Amino acid sequence: MALNIPAEFDREMDELISRYPVRRSASLMVLHAWQEKFGWISQEAVAWVAAKLGLQPIHVFELVTFYPMFRQAPAGKFQFKVCRTLSCALGGGHELHGHLCGKLGLDPKKHGAQTTADGRFSVEFVECLASCGTAPVVMVNDTFHQGVTTGKADELVAGCR
Ligand code: FES
Repeated sequence: MALNIPAEFDREMDELISRYPVRRSASLMVLHAWQEKFGWISQEAVAWVAAKLGLQPIHVFELVTFYPMFRQAPAGKFQFKVCRTLSCALGGGHELHGHLCGKLGLDPKKHGAQTTADGRFSVEFVECLASCGTAPVVMVNDTFHQGVTTGKADELVAGCR
C-alpha cells in the first residue's frame, strides 16, 4: 500500500530529526509523532520511518514491537489504558486488565494493545500515569479514572457510547 504522507508532516519530521546529532536517535520521537498523527504504525509506516532515519526497517520494527505503547493496528473508539507500574500492579492493575479483556472478549496475555472485532474498544497496559497513590489507575481516551475496581470498570465500559 502506497503511503500518502502530508508534506507538512514530512517537513516536521525532517526538522525533528535535525535536532539530534545522530539520525537514529530520533527513532522513538518520530514513531510517537507518527502514531499521534495516524493512530497506529503499519509495516509501510515502519519502512517510511526507517528510510527517513537511514535505518533498515527491522531496526524500527524492533522498537515498535518492544514498546507496548506503539500500536500495530488501529485503536478502538474507546481506548482503555491500564497502568501496570508498581503501585497499580500491587493495587490490582493486572487483575483489572484481565477483567476488561475477559469482558470484551480479548486475550489478556497478548502483547500490546488489543481491539475488539467491532472496533469499539481497545485495552492496553501503560506505564505510570503519575497518580500512584490512587491505584489502580485507568485512562479511557483522555479521561483519567482513579481507584478503579472491576465494578467501576464495568460502569466505564457501559458508559462508552
Ligand atoms: S503506578 Fe500507576 S499511576 Fe503510578
